[in-house]
Amino acid sequence: MISRRAMLTAGASALAFPASAQDMRSLKAIAAAKGFVFGSAAASYELKDGDFAPLLAREAAQLVPEYEMKRDALETKPGFYDFAALDSLFAFAAKNRLSMRGHTLCWYYANPPWLVSMLAAKRDEKLLTSHIQTVLRRYPMDSVDVVNEALAPPGTAARADSLRPSLWLDAFGPGYIDMAFHAARAADPKVKLVYNDWGFEQGAAENDRFRSATLRLLDGMLKRKTPIDALGIQGHLSAFGNRIDQRKLRAFLQEIRDRGLIILITELDVDDTGGPHDSVSRDRAVADEARRFLDVALDNPATQAVLTWNLSDRYVDPPDEWKLKLLGWRLRKTPYNAQMRRKPLWNAMAQAFSDRRIFY
Ligand code: XIL
Repeated sequence: MISRRAMLTAGASALAFPASAQDMRSLKAIAAAKGFVFGSAAASYELKDGDFAPLLAREAAQLVPEYEMKRDALETKPGFYDFAALDSLFAFAAKNRLSMRGHTLCWYYANPPWLVSMLAAKRDEKLLTSHIQTVLRRYPMDSVDVVNEALAPPGTAARADSLRPSLWLDAFGPGYIDMAFHAARAADPKVKLVYNDWGFEQGAAENDRFRSATLRLLDGMLKRKTPIDALGIQGHLSAFGNRIDQRKLRAFLQEIRDRGLIILITELDVDDTGGPHDSVSRDRAVADEARRFLDVALDNPATQAVLTWNLSDRYVDPPDEWKLKLLGWRLRKTPYNAQMRRKPLWNAMAQAFSDRRIFY
């Protein structure tokens, strides 16, 4: 008598087809046929994984460093840069003819301790602008997240200007955002300059407020002629929590397009926390939520790229140990499982990509 768990597990593996046993299309080819770029975040240590690296090169047309361009990883001492890990990602991209996007030049998080104390001691704009120049002058990229998550996240008490408290806001006031974008444009006249954040995807009242705050931020930048080209929508979704609202998302994306900005989906993944134990139904719910999101995001001609926040569950943030022990859970947020087999999420993305209407 086969146990229910064994049957469900067998079902899961049957659903997660080996890449070689089904159509050999790649997500990048399906996306390119519909006029946009598919890519993924990757970390330099993952390139050493013989199962993963070829898959990444086959599926992605663009990479974004998961952590190697973050300031605490890059500028380990004032003015001292360890470029090795980031260089290896750019070398992998060049070898496989992938483009790169940058993440991120200015963030409230992942700053080295020396910067925090130095910034508190002297509010020297070069502590922001010279870093931006150093990175942009070394790395040619298609787009770059100049400022990441500058708005108070949904559900938190916000200032009148809705900005998130940060070392940058403390040091330079709200003007740090414009300063970063102007420094980036001066350092690289070609790269698309992106404001990147999360919180506009879901349908709760707190997300309504976040969408309004985002539009106010962007309108102020556009009014002051701050050089900005795109809004980065991270796309961290939840299969069993705060779900996306297609009507509200569609209207918001139209607002972004009406402002002449490009839309980039920069960190797509679908958290399956809170779901049932069996991975078959979790995988199905993850695929469905991604499809609901992509159907709307790709139905706006301003959307030029979709990147997942990693391509395989093998490299998703290590799950809480208690979940792994108690429930045997890994988070199943990405298109490939930890054994590098496609999941329903891959199929849902492939379908959403190929269903995108052509805009004339
Ligand atoms: C996360 C990484 O995935 C983690 O490994 C790291 O510990 C923290 O940063 N929004 C972002 C990303 O812009 O940089 C974050 O990435 C996830 C949320």
